[in-house]
Formats: sequence, C-alpha cells, structure tokens
Amino acid sequence: MCGIVGAIARDDVVPILLEGLRRLEYRGYDSAGIALADGGLRRLRTTGRVSELSKLVGEQQFQGMVGIAHTRWATHGAPSERNAHPHFSAGVGNVAVVHNGIIENHEKLRQRLQSAGFEFLSDTDTEVIAHLITLKLQQTSDLFEAVRLSIDDLQGAYAIAVIEEAQPERIIVARNGAPLMLGLGEHCNYAASDASALLQVTKRMIYLEDGDVAELRRDGYRIVNCLAGVTSKEVVRAVYESELTDTDVELGPYSHFMQKEIFEQPGVVANTLEIVLNAHSISPQLFGSDAEHIFKQIDSVLILACGTSYHAGLVARYWLESMAGLACNVEIASEYRYRDPVANPKTLVVAVSQSGETADTLAALAYAKSLGHQHTLAICNVPESALIRSTDLRFLTRAGPEIGVASTKAFTTQLAALMLLSVTLAKLRGKLSSEREREVIAELRHLPVALKHTLQVEDQVMVWAERFAHKNHALFLGRGMHYPIAMEGALKLKEISYIHAEAYAAGELKHGPLALVDEDMPVVAIAPNNALLEKLKSNLQEVRARGGELYVFVDSDSTIQQSEGMHVIILPEHTRLLSPILHTIPLQLLAYHVALKKNTDVDKPRNLAKSVTVE
Ligand code: G6P
Repeated sequence: MCGIVGAIARDDVVPILLEGLRRLEYRGYDSAGIALADGGLRRLRTTGRVSELSKLVGEQQFQGMVGIAHTRWATHGAPSERNAHPHFSAGVGNVAVVHNGIIENHEKLRQRLQSAGFEFLSDTDTEVIAHLITLKLQQTSDLFEAVRLSIDDLQGAYAIAVIEEAQPERIIVARNGAPLMLGLGEHCNYAASDASALLQVTKRMIYLEDGDVAELRRDGYRIVNCLAGVTSKEVVRAVYESELTDTDVELGPYSHFMQKEIFEQPGVVANTLEIVLNAHSISPQLFGSDAEHIFKQIDSVLILACGTSYHAGLVARYWLESMAGLACNVEIASEYRYRDPVANPKTLVVAVSQSGETADTLAALAYAKSLGHQHTLAICNVPESALIRSTDLRFLTRAGPEIGVASTKAFTTQLAALMLLSVTLAKLRGKLSSEREREVIAELRHLPVALKHTLQVEDQVMVWAERFAHKNHALFLGRGMHYPIAMEGALKLKEISYIHAEAYAAGELKHGPLALVDEDMPVVAIAPNNALLEKLKSNLQEVRARGGELYVFVDSDSTIQQSEGMHVIILPEHTRLLSPILHTIPLQLLAYHVALKKNTDVDKPRNLAKSVTVE
C-alpha cells in the first residue's frame, strides 16, 4: 500500500526521503513522487520505481531542506504520473499533500471545491485534501489550523503530510485510521507511515493516534488531538526507542526478502515460543494479565483475518476443536463485517494479522464488538499497530519485520501462537493432562530444529520448480488441518509466480476439479502420515488414473513411493500436531523457486500490497 515519508532539517533532505521510499517499496506501489517546500514548491513524479525517481532527482539537482515523498498504490484513478502524489493546490500558500488511505466523501467535496473555482488535475481522492486546505487557508493563514479545519470535513481513513511554500519552516501531518509516526532527530524531524523508513536516521519514534494533527519543525514538534466532536487539545505522546535495527530491514546475504524470511523461520518461531521453551507448563498470562479470567468464561472462538492470516486461523480451528473441544468459526474479515452474524457474548474473538493495520480485519473486529462480543484477543506481529491497541488480550508473534509481500515467517509464527492458544484453552477446560501438556511442550521445543531440517528439502524442490515454471495452472490438495496448508501453498504460488493455483480439500476432487486434471495440470498433494492418509491415497489414485502428474510431500512413514507420474519429496521430520507448520516450508520454497525461474518480482509481486490499509 501507499507509503509516506517527510523530513525537515538544516541541510538537504532529499537523500533521506528517497532512502525512506526505498525502504517502503516492499509495501507495494505503482508510482512515486517527492515535493520540496523551500525555494518554491517543486515536485518530481514517476510511474517507475523509486530508483527511477532517484535518477530524476540526480538529473535535476533536486535539493531542499523541507520535503514530503510518497509511494502510491492506485485506488482512485489509474497508476499514472498525474495521479501520483504529492498533489498540489495553487492559491494563497501553494500546498502539497501526500496521503495514504481513502477519503470516502471525496466526490461531494470535489463538487463543492469545483463550485468554489478549484481546478482538478488528477482523478484521485487526495487532490480534494490539497484544495480543501487551500480553501481553509483563505480563513486562516496558519497551515496547522488550515489542516485541522480541513480534516473536520474528511470522512474515511487517512494519514497525510502537508507542506506549504509560504511556510516552509514546517510540515503538518495528520492521522485517522492509517498508520503514521514521527521520528525525532537533532535539529531535524521526520514523519513516515512505517518505522522502517526512518531507521536510517533515527530510532526515536512517536506513534500518532487517530485524530492527531502534528506540526514538525527543525527543532521541535507539537501534537494536537482533534477527534471529531471533541475539543482539540495539545497532547503528549510517548517517545519509543525502536527495537528494530537497520539490519532487520536489510537483505544481507540473501537475494530476496522472501528467501531471507523463509530461512529465518527456525529463529523467529523459536523467538515466538521463547517463554514456553524453557517452561514446564503453559500459562494463560501469555495472552495478558486478564486472560485466565476471560478464557474461563468463553464457550467458543471466532477467528477474523485476511489472506495468509486467514489460513492460519483455518488451521487453528482443527486444533481448537480437537484439543480444547471448543466450537470455532473462522471468517474472512471482509465478509464478516457485512454479514448479520448472531453474536454470542461468550465467544472469544481472535483477530489475526501480521501488520495489525489491515483495514478489513480492524473493521471486522470493531463490528464484532458492536454486535456485543466482549472478549477479544489480537495475534499480531507489530507491537505499535492499531490492532494491538484494540483488544483486551494480545499475543505478539516475534517474526520481526516481514518485507516480502508474500507472507512466510509471519504465517508460521502465527501458527505457533495459535497452538499456544489451543493448548492454553484445552488446559483451562480440563482437556489436557499434564503429561500431554509436557509432550506438546516437547514438540514445540523441537519445532525450530525440525523447521531447520525441513528447509533442507530446498534442492529437491528446485528440481520440481523447473517443471512448474512452464505450467499455467496447478492444483493443491490436502485433507484435515493440511487443507488450509494446501490453500496457503496455492496462494503463495499465484502471488509470486502468477501461475493460477487452486486448493481443494482432497475429498472434493471428484466433485468438480477432477474434470481439470490432465498431463498439463500438476497436482501438489500434502500427504503427512496421519489418520487421513489412506483416504488421501485414494484421492491421489483418482488423479493418476486421469493422467495427472502428482507432486507429493510426504512424511518418511507415509508409505507413498515414487513412481511413474508420482513425484515424492520426503520431509525429514515428522511432528504430529505441528505437522501443518512443517508442511508449509516446502510449499513456500516451491513458490519462491518457480517465481525465480519465471523471473518475476518476488518481493513485490504486481498489483499486490504488503499491508492493505484500505477496504
Ligand atoms: C495482504 C498481504 C498478505 C497478508 C494479508 C493480510 O494481502 O499481501 O500477505 O496475508 O494482507 O495481512 P495481515 O497484515 O492482516 O496479516
């Protein structure tokens, strides 16, 4: 999604703005731009990459001490130079605006502003903000005040940064429903939509809250909260020392972030499980001080999530049902928020999100609360996210920043967290003996090593990837708790290799998709040695009988042999309950290596965004 960087300093800020944009590239974008306020309002925009923008900057000797920059992921208006941010409004002061989010009442505002004589040069919702500020500057000459008055008229989600030619000694930013933070330096201050953009210059950050409008000067800042209907007042927000290091968001020896993140999994899963790995029992406190009290009141679980996080929720349903005996629903957040579900106040609502900023997940959670759900838990990877602040209970996965758009390590750490939740609830409900708890802890303790061993299948997967690269379609099959893993494998393949991939519960094959099977349709199957293995083998025979080529991931004791049309990779480890986590690894590797063969942009697949902060 879109990214914002702003900087004000005593010397040239353009290199900082460009480096900030470079670090935000991972979020996904289709155009980029930069504007400076001092020495006359100027801008450069391109539909190319940030490197293209850097080239333009070099050619035109574009320098200044106050600026804002943006990467745009098109929503209103095609990806084109005229729609790229910053947007200008000429008038009293000449302002430039960058914006993340969506202004829902932009059409009405556009009509109003056009009647007032403003000429629109883009198709974006953002341009209304620029003209609105100019309109307000006719009432007040103060830019801060003009921004504050403007946001009263805006409906929707936004993070904005504004500069003005007439007042080049400050940047004004505002946030409502889209992430925005300030970075503090010595005689220089910054703003960005994501901490990774600012680590190059500072670790001291302030996370703005909804309704905050802030003014950044070289030697100071102030924040006023202007929540609608409440009188504006100056507020003090805590300054955080970011724990992220510059290298957390650097590639190091890897070719792609996705590759780095796949190989980080043993370490980050160990980090996520750290508190448990040295313990003899699992405590509800892991989820918050009030967790035991809340968990004892619940009789069911509702998981809300999108994308890969939704797949993690689907796996958890099997664990929660079988271990804790709890009814569990897993809902796609964008669907749930527009249904009329019947709320049960004894349900634990679990929102799962890597970023904690996904608009649909946040809205679904708010909707669940409005329906009367009282118990909420966030499983999230970003401590400062909106999601973490929205629930009674929380568990932080410790995957570290995930830069590749295709989620990998966030998924396996979410699964680790959801396993802890299942064990905790099972225990509180008297469904888990101490002996069984010790066994599960032993499995969890072994998980990082098992993941490390599983990564060794990479060479074999690469051989398969060669064959997939020439295909247009693929089917993924799984049963039971490995069916969501098949879904995740198919999602990974389509996201980064653009091969059309569908996942089916293997038992459904004969109800339709079997019609698609021929020698051009590779069929990937996840075949762990579990109670459903014999059933799955029958499904695989159905494929073979129609000339389908099978690619099967098995456990060493799955007793599936390599044969004509049946390619087999044996996973070196077999962990029973945690098997979905291990079986994810070869599917991630398969998607990665197919994408490499197809020479696609692995970390920034076309049209996709890392964090979907709009509906
Ligand atoms: C986007 C990302 C996916 C992610 C999904 C949900 O589509 O590209 O990788 O799974 O959003 O994101 P969340 O941050 O809520 O887990």
